[in-house]
Amino acid sequence: MDNFTKSENTVLKTEDNISEGNNSADYPVYSEEELEVIRKRMEQRRAERRAAAHRRIMRNRAVAIAILLIIGILIFRACHDDNGITEPSQSSSSQTERSDSKAKKSDSEPAVKMDTPSEKNEHDIEQVNGMTFVDGILIVNKTYSLPADYDPGVSTVAQNAFDNMSAAAANDGITLFVNSGYRSYQEQEMLYNSYAMERGTEAADEVSSRPGHSEHQTGLTFDVNTTENSFAGTPEANWLAEHCCEYGFIIRYPEDKEDITGYIYEPWHIRYIGKEKAKAVTESGLCLEEYLDITSDYKYADDNSAS
Ligand code: DAL
Ligand code: ZN
Repeated sequence: MDNFTKSENTVLKTEDNISEGNNSADYPVYSEEELEVIRKRMEQRRAERRAAAHRRIMRNRAVAIAILLIIGILIFRACHDDNGITEPSQSSSSQTERSDSKAKKSDSEPAVKMDTPSEKNEHDIEQVNGMTFVDGILIVNKTYSLPADYDPGVSTVAQNAFDNMSAAAANDGITLFVNSGYRSYQEQEMLYNSYAMERGTEAADEVSSRPGHSEHQTGLTFDVNTTENSFAGTPEANWLAEHCCEYGFIIRYPEDKEDITGYIYEPWHIRYIGKEKAKAVTESGLCLEEYLDITSDYKYADDNSAS
């Protein structure tokens, strides 16, 4: 038996009992050197026990944290797994509502365009006083309308941006001017009705908005120079398409996006959304509806203008 395996309760040999010749006891006796070794071993065992206990505590703590994390993740996913089909109330015109999902006309016809039924629109929808903002952009199209009494006049910010753009264009030898800017609900109503009388509703809907659905009522939109199709491809139209985003505008109804915007290509119609957003939308190559993943269709209209 070595020193380490001897019982710690063993009665130890002392100077006295050695000197008294009392070395016939039935317990082991140790020299001072052996005692020192035993003490060190005992201390080492205590330290090992303390370390093992510490490791146990740390392991239990880690397991508890992992369990809490998993529970947290499960709760988070449960709260956000409703497919974003929350229907915002549209009953109060003075109410502000916010939702990660889109307003929709009915359960079977969501206004939000989704690639898959389970995919939710990640854009931020806010409805304020009967107007819809998506990611902070006031949306007016065939789905989303303005109240008839929304009558802001031309936006000073948009007008200043246009003036700056026009000055920059002039430096490049290009003349840009406002052909048509702000239009009230009533003015749009007269304009649309005249188109509808002349060409029929279907043809009118390709070029003119029904009252409440025209961006011109926002005061943030301008038709530049002319609304003739011959404007397309002119140096003015090309300059506008290339530079308008630098001043916060987008070409709102681009070529080849007619089935998404709901309108024919209008190279003259620009909409102010701010420089940062205008650059992002333009660089994306998407029209605003695609960029924000929203529809433009009277069948989803949020007012009673759908025929
Ligand atoms: N021409 C555009 C679509 C309007 O009427 O607002
Ligand atoms: Zn226009």
